[in-house]
Amino acid sequence: MKTLFIKGGRLIDPSRNYDDRADLLIKGGLVEAADKNLKPPDGAEIIEADGLVVMPGLIDMHVHLRDPGQEYKEDVLSGARAAAAGGFTAVAAMANTEPVADEPPTIRYVADKAAGAVARVYPIGALSKGLQGVELAELGRMQKAGAVAFSDDGKPVLNGTLMRNALQYAGGIGALVIVHEEDPTLVGKGVMHEGSVSSVLGLRGIPATAEEAMLARDLMLLKMVGGRLHIAHLSTAGAVELVRKAKADGLPVTAEVTPQHLLLTDRAVKNSGYNTNTKVKPPLRSEQDRQALWEGLLDGTVDAIASDHAPHHSDDKDVEYDFAPFGIAGLETTLPLLLDELASGRIKELTLSMLVEKLSTAPARILGVEGGALKPGSPADITIVDPGRSFIVNPDNWYSKSRNTPFAGRQLKGAPVYTILSGEIVMKEGVVADRK
Ligand code: DOR
Ligand code: ZN
Repeated sequence: MKTLFIKGGRLIDPSRNYDDRADLLIKGGLVEAADKNLKPPDGAEIIEADGLVVMPGLIDMHVHLRDPGQEYKEDVLSGARAAAAGGFTAVAAMANTEPVADEPPTIRYVADKAAGAVARVYPIGALSKGLQGVELAELGRMQKAGAVAFSDDGKPVLNGTLMRNALQYAGGIGALVIVHEEDPTLVGKGVMHEGSVSSVLGLRGIPATAEEAMLARDLMLLKMVGGRLHIAHLSTAGAVELVRKAKADGLPVTAEVTPQHLLLTDRAVKNSGYNTNTKVKPPLRSEQDRQALWEGLLDGTVDAIASDHAPHHSDDKDVEYDFAPFGIAGLETTLPLLLDELASGRIKELTLSMLVEKLSTAPARILGVEGGALKPGSPADITIVDPGRSFIVNPDNWYSKSRNTPFAGRQLKGAPVYTILSGEIVMKEGVVADRK
């Protein structure tokens, strides 16, 4: 294994509040030294990082890799390549596959397929058998097989007793429960946020209350039986407020937000002319909700940013708005969208260090996986970013098999230029390598 020397970059390590120039010496897949003015050893491969930002490898704690079952949309290996291209060294893969990842063999299938991939892939097991929301899946056996968390994501858990038992059982084995909060009886046949825009467009709405009602229930259950709860893709101001209050009460809850909910509103459905790539669950909300999500992110209510990478084939999306599947593919846009937002200066208190915390250090902590830090002994999973690089989002150039993004054609400033996994360069200047 090569010795790597990353020279003269701005090193950000939120795990120890470090944000300063430093060199990084990498040996045997680990960080050997991170300090100013290190000497490159003879024969080391040198990356000149002057003007670049060096950070712990980003971890996307919420992706859908469609494998097994819908490999025409994505598979474990194409998803890992999309991750590497987007600056992610690890992803956590949701269980809504075909078959559902609700048994150890499916968990092992995903983990085995990811061995040797260009990103770490952590399987998430289903909470209920077949995502049916009726019977608890065998969480303990899946945990032993490598599942890092449990979720029915994509399908909210309507049955309160099931959620109660899930929290209690998962809590007993120290496992994290991730929830998709949308009461399906309130969502109904809704396809976008319920508000003035849905009225004007004549599309059925999904009220903010659908998310908030179920979230309130789960926070109460958490208080009642304990456990550890993570809220996927917060989308409403009321949901942010509920999590803020729960945290103030000392409940063991964490939350994530997606770039699409931070950057777009229901107006995108109108302005794009009913572009089905704006159709996502939970839906793009109002401007007031969007601002509340930023406030939650800045004040620590929202712990992490995740893409909810939900690849769909253009044949599936190329239908009337009502009939298109929900989802946005985000692995290759998440980091640049956030770097661009930072560069724009629109969010006054946003810092690069905060973004690294939300995209790496916090996800590692919440999932209980390695990474999220760059100090001696850390795995050499590293993302190097050029904050000045401008480009136009072009899904035709993606490594993902799908192209469903509402951000196509956007000019962005800031991009990953190297992704390093276990000390090996897996992406350089946008080109993903095969692993040796
Ligand atoms: O938009 C979404 N797409 N939201 C989900 O919760 C599921 C996901 C999918 O699997 O396509
Ligand atoms: Zn999801």
